[in-house]
Amino acid sequence: MPNGSRVVSVGHYQPEKVLTNAELCEMVETTDEWITSRVGIKERRIAEKDEKVADLAFKAGQQALANSGLSASDIDMVLVGTTSAMDRTPNTACQVAARLGIETGSPAMDVNTACSGFGYAVGMADQFLKGGTAKRALVIGAEKLTQFTDWSDRSTCVLFGDGAGAVIMEATDETEQVTGPVVWGSVPAMADVIRITEDIPFIKQEGQSVYRWTVTSLPPLIRQTINDAGLEPASIKAFVLHQANLRIIEGISKRLGFDDAIIADDIIYSGNTSTASIPLALSKLVQEGKVQSGDPIVLFGFGGGLTYAGQVIYCP
Ligand SMILES: CC(C)(COP(=O)(O)OP(=O)(O)OC[C@H]1O[C@@H](n2cnc3c(N)ncnc32)[C@H](O)[C@@H]1OP(=O)(O)O)[C@@H](O)C(=O)NCCC(=O)NCCS
Repeated sequence: MPNGSRVVSVGHYQPEKVLTNAELCEMVETTDEWITSRVGIKERRIAEKDEKVADLAFKAGQQALANSGLSASDIDMVLVGTTSAMDRTPNTACQVAARLGIETGSPAMDVNTACSGFGYAVGMADQFLKGGTAKRALVIGAEKLTQFTDWSDRSTCVLFGDGAGAVIMEATDETEQVTGPVVWGSVPAMADVIRITEDIPFIKQEGQSVYRWTVTSLPPLIRQTINDAGLEPASIKAFVLHQANLRIIEGISKRLGFDDAIIADDIIYSGNTSTASIPLALSKLVQEGKVQSGDPIVLFGFGGGLTYAGQVIYCP
Protein backbone atom coordinates (compact mmCIF):
# COMPACT_ATOMS: atom_id res chain seq x y z
CA MET A 1 0.00 0.00 0.00
CA PRO A 2 1.21 3.55 -0.70
CA ASN A 3 2.10 5.68 2.31
CA GLY A 4 0.06 8.66 1.29
CA SER A 5 -0.88 11.07 -1.45
CA ARG A 6 0.43 14.30 -2.90
CA VAL A 7 -0.96 17.17 -4.92
CA VAL A 8 1.01 17.21 -8.17
CA SER A 9 -0.71 20.02 -10.08
CA VAL A 10 -3.38 22.70 -9.87
CA GLY A 11 -5.64 24.52 -12.33
CA HIS A 12 -8.61 26.86 -12.38
CA TYR A 13 -11.17 28.52 -14.58
CA GLN A 14 -13.33 31.60 -14.15
CA PRO A 15 -16.00 32.93 -16.52
CA GLU A 16 -15.04 36.08 -18.39
CA LYS A 17 -17.91 38.28 -17.31
CA VAL A 18 -16.99 40.52 -14.35
CA LEU A 19 -19.71 42.02 -12.13
CA THR A 20 -18.38 44.96 -10.11
CA ASN A 21 -19.75 46.51 -6.94
CA ALA A 22 -20.58 49.63 -8.97
CA GLU A 23 -22.80 47.55 -11.26
CA LEU A 24 -24.52 45.92 -8.26
CA CYS A 25 -25.28 49.39 -6.88
CA GLU A 26 -27.48 49.90 -9.96
CA MET A 27 -29.35 46.65 -9.28
CA VAL A 28 -30.05 46.84 -5.50
CA GLU A 29 -29.76 49.41 -2.72
CA THR A 30 -26.15 48.89 -1.68
CA THR A 31 -22.78 50.65 -1.76
CA ASP A 32 -19.21 49.73 -2.59
CA GLU A 33 -18.34 50.90 0.92
CA TRP A 34 -20.82 48.45 2.58
CA ILE A 35 -19.70 45.48 0.49
CA THR A 36 -15.98 46.24 0.86
CA SER A 37 -16.06 46.91 4.58
CA ARG A 38 -18.38 44.01 5.52
CA VAL A 39 -17.06 41.25 3.24
CA GLY A 40 -14.10 42.59 1.26
CA ILE A 41 -15.45 41.81 -2.22
CA LYS A 42 -14.71 44.20 -5.10
CA GLU A 43 -15.89 42.09 -8.03
CA ARG A 44 -17.02 38.59 -8.94
CA ARG A 45 -17.28 36.48 -12.11
CA ILE A 46 -20.62 35.43 -13.55
CA ALA A 47 -21.08 32.42 -15.83
CA GLU A 48 -23.05 32.76 -19.06
CA LYS A 49 -26.61 31.42 -19.10
CA ASP A 50 -25.61 28.41 -21.17
CA GLU A 51 -22.39 27.77 -19.22
CA LYS A 52 -22.97 24.81 -16.89
CA VAL A 53 -21.16 23.73 -13.73
CA ALA A 54 -19.73 20.84 -15.76
CA ASP A 55 -18.26 23.33 -18.28
CA LEU A 56 -16.48 25.23 -15.47
CA ALA A 57 -15.30 21.98 -13.88
CA PHE A 58 -14.04 20.61 -17.19
CA LYS A 59 -11.98 23.72 -17.94
CA ALA A 60 -10.37 23.73 -14.48
CA GLY A 61 -9.66 19.99 -14.74
CA GLN A 62 -8.23 20.41 -18.22
CA GLN A 63 -5.81 23.05 -16.94
CA ALA A 64 -4.72 20.91 -13.97
CA LEU A 65 -4.10 18.04 -16.37
CA ALA A 66 -2.09 20.24 -18.77
CA ASN A 67 -0.04 21.61 -15.86
CA SER A 68 0.74 18.08 -14.63
CA GLY A 69 2.29 16.84 -17.87
CA LEU A 70 0.11 13.73 -17.47
CA SER A 71 -2.50 12.49 -19.89
CA ALA A 72 -6.15 11.59 -19.26
CA SER A 73 -5.26 7.88 -19.26
CA ASP A 74 -3.09 8.48 -16.16
CA ILE A 75 -6.12 9.55 -14.10
CA ASP A 76 -8.20 6.75 -12.58
CA MET A 77 -10.61 8.67 -10.33
CA VAL A 78 -12.62 11.90 -10.68
CA LEU A 79 -14.24 13.64 -7.71
CA VAL A 80 -16.16 16.91 -8.08
CA GLY A 81 -17.31 18.97 -5.14
CA THR A 82 -20.37 20.96 -6.16
CA THR A 83 -23.61 22.10 -4.66
CA SER A 84 -25.01 23.97 -7.66
CA ALA A 85 -24.91 21.46 -10.53
CA MET A 86 -28.40 21.23 -12.06
CA ASP A 87 -27.99 17.85 -13.78
CA ARG A 88 -29.12 14.91 -11.64
CA THR A 89 -27.38 12.46 -13.94
CA PRO A 90 -24.86 12.18 -15.45
CA ASN A 91 -23.21 13.80 -12.47
CA THR A 92 -20.57 16.50 -12.99
CA ALA A 93 -17.65 14.11 -12.43
CA CYS A 94 -18.94 11.73 -15.13
CA GLN A 95 -19.40 14.64 -17.56
CA VAL A 96 -15.84 15.82 -16.88
CA ALA A 97 -14.49 12.26 -17.26
CA ALA A 98 -16.23 11.90 -20.63
CA ARG A 99 -14.96 15.23 -21.95
CA LEU A 100 -11.39 14.68 -20.77
CA GLY A 101 -11.28 11.15 -22.15
CA ILE A 102 -10.72 9.41 -18.81
CA GLU A 103 -10.58 5.63 -19.25
CA THR A 104 -13.50 3.27 -18.69
CA GLY A 105 -13.54 1.84 -15.18
CA SER A 106 -12.49 5.00 -13.33
CA PRO A 107 -14.85 5.91 -10.49
CA ALA A 108 -16.42 9.36 -10.93
CA MET A 109 -18.65 10.99 -8.34
CA ASP A 110 -19.92 14.31 -7.04
CA VAL A 111 -19.59 15.37 -3.42
CA ASN A 112 -22.13 17.83 -2.06
CA THR A 113 -21.20 19.36 1.27
CA ALA A 114 -21.63 22.96 0.07
CA CYS A 115 -18.64 25.24 0.70
CA SER A 116 -16.59 22.54 2.45
CA GLY A 117 -16.93 20.18 -0.54
CA PHE A 118 -13.36 20.53 -1.76
CA GLY A 119 -11.90 19.57 1.63
CA TYR A 120 -14.24 16.58 1.78
CA ALA A 121 -13.27 15.50 -1.75
CA VAL A 122 -9.52 15.87 -1.09
CA GLY A 123 -9.96 13.89 2.16
CA MET A 124 -11.79 11.13 0.31
CA ALA A 125 -9.26 11.07 -2.54
CA ASP A 126 -6.41 10.82 -0.01
CA GLN A 127 -8.08 7.80 1.60
CA PHE A 128 -8.74 6.08 -1.75
CA LEU A 129 -5.17 6.72 -2.92
CA LYS A 130 -3.70 5.44 0.34
CA GLY A 131 -6.05 2.46 0.23
CA GLY A 132 -4.76 1.53 -3.21
CA THR A 133 -8.09 1.75 -5.04
CA ALA A 134 -6.80 4.53 -7.32
CA LYS A 135 -3.38 5.86 -8.34
CA ARG A 136 -4.23 9.38 -9.47
CA ALA A 137 -7.32 11.41 -8.71
CA LEU A 138 -8.58 14.56 -10.37
CA VAL A 139 -10.34 16.56 -7.64
CA ILE A 140 -12.38 19.60 -8.65
CA GLY A 141 -14.50 22.21 -6.89
CA ALA A 142 -16.96 23.88 -9.27
CA GLU A 143 -19.93 26.18 -8.72
CA LYS A 144 -22.44 28.33 -10.54
CA LEU A 145 -24.09 29.74 -7.43
CA THR A 146 -25.37 32.74 -9.35
CA GLN A 147 -28.13 30.50 -10.72
CA PHE A 148 -29.39 30.21 -7.12
CA THR A 149 -29.02 33.93 -6.40
CA ASP A 150 -32.00 36.19 -5.76
CA TRP A 151 -30.83 39.33 -7.58
CA SER A 152 -33.36 41.47 -5.70
CA ASP A 153 -32.00 40.44 -2.25
CA ARG A 154 -29.11 42.75 -1.38
CA SER A 155 -28.11 40.65 1.64
CA THR A 156 -27.06 37.75 -0.60
CA CYS A 157 -26.66 38.89 -4.20
CA VAL A 158 -23.51 40.90 -3.47
CA LEU A 159 -21.74 37.83 -2.05
CA PHE A 160 -21.53 35.08 -4.64
CA GLY A 161 -19.66 34.30 -7.86
CA ASP A 162 -18.97 31.42 -10.25
CA GLY A 163 -15.79 29.47 -10.95
CA ALA A 164 -13.86 26.25 -10.59
CA GLY A 165 -10.51 25.00 -9.33
CA ALA A 166 -8.84 21.61 -9.57
CA VAL A 167 -5.94 19.54 -8.30
CA ILE A 168 -4.44 16.25 -9.35
CA MET A 169 -3.42 14.00 -6.45
CA GLU A 170 -1.32 10.88 -6.72
CA ALA A 171 -0.42 8.00 -4.43
CA THR A 172 3.14 7.99 -3.15
CA ASP A 173 5.44 5.72 -1.16
CA GLU A 174 7.24 8.74 0.26
CA THR A 175 6.66 9.52 3.92
CA GLU A 176 7.55 13.23 3.81
CA GLN A 177 5.35 16.01 2.42
CA VAL A 178 2.24 13.90 2.04
CA THR A 179 -1.34 15.19 2.34
CA GLY A 180 -2.18 15.62 6.02
CA PRO A 181 -5.11 13.88 7.74
CA VAL A 182 -8.47 15.43 6.98
CA VAL A 183 -10.22 17.20 9.87
CA TRP A 184 -13.89 17.16 9.00
CA GLY A 185 -17.32 17.10 10.47
CA SER A 186 -20.81 18.52 10.58
CA VAL A 187 -22.88 20.56 13.03
CA PRO A 188 -26.41 19.13 12.95
CA ALA A 189 -27.74 21.75 15.38
CA MET A 190 -27.00 24.39 12.72
CA ALA A 191 -28.48 22.50 9.78
CA ASP A 192 -30.78 25.36 8.81
CA VAL A 193 -28.45 28.37 8.87
CA ILE A 194 -27.45 28.15 5.17
CA ARG A 195 -30.08 26.92 2.75
CA ILE A 196 -30.96 26.33 -0.88
CA THR A 197 -34.11 24.24 -0.64
CA GLU A 198 -36.84 22.91 -2.87
CA ASP A 199 -39.27 25.46 -1.39
CA ILE A 200 -36.97 28.46 -1.80
CA PRO A 201 -34.44 27.72 -4.53
CA PHE A 202 -32.27 30.75 -3.69
CA ILE A 203 -29.35 30.86 -1.30
CA LYS A 204 -30.39 32.14 2.12
CA GLN A 205 -28.29 32.33 5.27
CA GLU A 206 -28.37 33.51 8.87
CA GLY A 207 -25.23 35.55 8.29
CA GLN A 208 -24.56 36.60 11.87
CA SER A 209 -25.01 33.07 13.31
CA VAL A 210 -22.60 31.67 10.74
CA TYR A 211 -20.15 34.52 11.40
CA ARG A 212 -20.17 33.88 15.16
CA TRP A 213 -19.70 30.14 14.64
CA THR A 214 -16.72 30.67 12.32
CA VAL A 215 -14.79 32.93 14.66
CA THR A 216 -15.30 30.69 17.71
CA SER A 217 -15.22 27.17 16.20
CA LEU A 218 -12.78 27.37 13.31
CA PRO A 219 -9.50 28.38 15.03
CA PRO A 220 -9.26 25.18 17.15
CA LEU A 221 -10.23 23.01 14.16
CA ILE A 222 -7.58 24.63 11.97
CA ARG A 223 -4.96 24.29 14.72
CA GLN A 224 -5.86 20.60 14.94
CA THR A 225 -5.48 20.28 11.14
CA ILE A 226 -1.96 21.71 11.36
CA ASN A 227 -1.04 19.59 14.42
CA ASP A 228 -2.39 16.40 12.83
CA ALA A 229 -0.01 17.03 9.91
CA GLY A 230 2.87 17.18 12.41
CA LEU A 231 3.40 20.92 11.93
CA GLU A 232 3.23 24.19 13.87
CA PRO A 233 1.39 27.30 12.61
CA ALA A 234 4.76 29.08 12.30
CA SER A 235 5.90 26.63 9.60
CA ILE A 236 2.81 27.09 7.40
CA LYS A 237 3.61 29.01 4.19
CA ALA A 238 0.07 29.70 3.00
CA PHE A 239 -3.42 29.65 4.48
CA VAL A 240 -6.36 29.11 2.16
CA LEU A 241 -9.59 29.45 4.13
CA HIS A 242 -12.95 29.21 2.37
CA GLN A 243 -13.40 32.64 0.79
CA ALA A 244 -16.67 33.70 2.43
CA ASN A 245 -15.70 36.96 4.12
CA LEU A 246 -12.36 38.80 4.19
CA ARG A 247 -13.01 39.86 7.80
CA ILE A 248 -13.35 36.20 8.83
CA ILE A 249 -10.19 35.31 6.89
CA GLU A 250 -8.14 38.11 8.44
CA GLY A 251 -9.53 37.64 11.96
CA ILE A 252 -8.86 33.90 12.04
CA SER A 253 -5.42 34.26 10.42
CA LYS A 254 -4.32 36.65 13.17
CA ARG A 255 -5.44 34.23 15.90
CA LEU A 256 -3.63 31.21 14.47
CA GLY A 257 -0.12 32.57 14.95
CA PHE A 258 1.31 32.16 11.47
CA ASP A 259 4.77 33.68 11.00
CA ASP A 260 4.96 34.83 7.41
CA ALA A 261 2.24 32.77 5.74
CA ILE A 262 0.55 34.14 2.64
CA ILE A 263 -3.14 34.58 3.42
CA ALA A 264 -5.30 33.82 0.38
CA ASP A 265 -7.65 36.75 -0.30
CA ASP A 266 -9.07 35.85 -3.69
CA ILE A 267 -12.54 36.75 -2.39
CA ILE A 268 -11.68 40.35 -3.35
CA TYR A 269 -11.76 39.43 -7.06
CA SER A 270 -13.95 36.33 -7.12
CA GLY A 271 -16.56 36.70 -4.36
CA ASN A 272 -17.73 33.60 -2.54
CA THR A 273 -17.56 30.70 -5.01
CA SER A 274 -18.50 28.05 -2.41
CA THR A 275 -16.81 24.70 -3.13
CA ALA A 276 -14.64 26.31 -5.80
CA SER A 277 -13.16 29.01 -3.59
CA ILE A 278 -10.30 26.99 -2.06
CA PRO A 279 -8.92 25.31 -5.22
CA LEU A 280 -9.43 28.56 -7.15
CA ALA A 281 -7.45 30.59 -4.62
CA LEU A 282 -4.84 27.83 -4.29
CA SER A 283 -4.31 27.58 -8.04
CA LYS A 284 -3.82 31.35 -8.29
CA LEU A 285 -1.25 31.35 -5.46
CA VAL A 286 0.72 28.63 -7.28
CA GLN A 287 0.45 30.21 -10.73
CA GLU A 288 1.41 33.65 -9.43
CA GLY A 289 4.50 32.15 -7.78
CA LYS A 290 3.41 33.20 -4.28
CA VAL A 291 4.12 29.70 -2.96
CA GLN A 292 7.05 27.47 -3.83
CA SER A 293 7.30 23.74 -4.43
CA GLY A 294 7.24 21.85 -1.11
CA ASP A 295 5.65 24.69 0.89
CA PRO A 296 3.10 23.44 3.44
CA ILE A 297 -0.32 25.00 2.83
CA VAL A 298 -3.33 24.65 5.11
CA LEU A 299 -6.71 24.45 3.39
CA PHE A 300 -9.95 24.76 5.36
CA GLY A 301 -13.53 24.91 4.14
CA PHE A 302 -16.83 25.44 5.95
CA GLY A 303 -20.39 26.02 4.89
CA GLY A 304 -23.92 24.73 4.45
CA GLY A 305 -24.90 21.77 6.54
CA LEU A 306 -23.10 23.08 8.56
CA THR A 307 -20.08 21.15 7.38
CA TYR A 308 -16.34 21.71 7.55
CA ALA A 309 -13.23 20.00 6.21
CA GLY A 310 -9.56 20.80 5.79
CA GLN A 311 -6.07 19.41 5.53
CA VAL A 312 -2.46 20.40 4.99
CA ILE A 313 -1.14 19.86 1.47
CA TYR A 314 2.29 20.62 -0.01
CA CYS A 315 2.71 22.96 -2.97
CA PRO A 316 3.37 20.93 -6.15
C1 LIG B 1 -23.33 37.91 5.27
C2 LIG B 1 -22.61 38.98 6.08
C3 LIG B 1 -21.55 39.65 5.23
C4 LIG B 1 -23.63 40.05 6.47
O1 LIG B 1 -22.99 41.03 7.28
P1 LIG B 1 -23.70 41.50 8.64
O2 LIG B 1 -22.83 42.53 9.22
O3 LIG B 1 -23.95 40.27 9.45
O4 LIG B 1 -25.03 42.16 8.08
P2 LIG B 1 -26.55 41.93 8.52
O5 LIG B 1 -27.16 40.85 7.69
O6 LIG B 1 -26.67 41.81 10.01
O7 LIG B 1 -27.17 43.30 8.10
C5 LIG B 1 -26.75 44.52 8.70
C6 LIG B 1 -27.44 45.66 8.00
O8 LIG B 1 -26.89 45.80 6.67
C7 LIG B 1 -27.97 45.78 5.74
N1 LIG B 1 -27.48 45.16 4.51
C8 LIG B 1 -27.45 43.85 4.21
N2 LIG B 1 -26.91 43.67 2.98
C9 LIG B 1 -26.59 44.92 2.53
C10 LIG B 1 -26.02 45.39 1.35
N3 LIG B 1 -25.64 44.57 0.36
N4 LIG B 1 -25.81 46.72 1.22
C11 LIG B 1 -26.17 47.56 2.20
N5 LIG B 1 -26.73 47.18 3.34
C12 LIG B 1 -26.94 45.85 3.51
C13 LIG B 1 -29.07 45.01 6.40
O9 LIG B 1 -30.32 45.33 5.85
C14 LIG B 1 -28.95 45.47 7.84
O10 LIG B 1 -29.56 46.72 7.94
P3 LIG B 1 -30.33 47.17 9.28
O11 LIG B 1 -29.27 47.17 10.35
O12 LIG B 1 -30.85 48.51 8.94
O13 LIG B 1 -31.36 46.12 9.50
C15 LIG B 1 -21.95 38.37 7.36
O14 LIG B 1 -22.96 38.06 8.29
C16 LIG B 1 -21.15 37.13 7.07
O15 LIG B 1 -20.19 37.14 6.34
N6 LIG B 1 -21.54 36.00 7.67
C17 LIG B 1 -20.85 34.73 7.46
C18 LIG B 1 -21.22 34.17 6.11
C19 LIG B 1 -20.52 32.87 5.86
O16 LIG B 1 -19.40 32.67 6.27
N7 LIG B 1 -21.19 31.92 5.20
C20 LIG B 1 -20.67 30.58 5.12
C21 LIG B 1 -20.24 30.13 3.83
S1 LIG B 1 -21.31 30.38 2.48
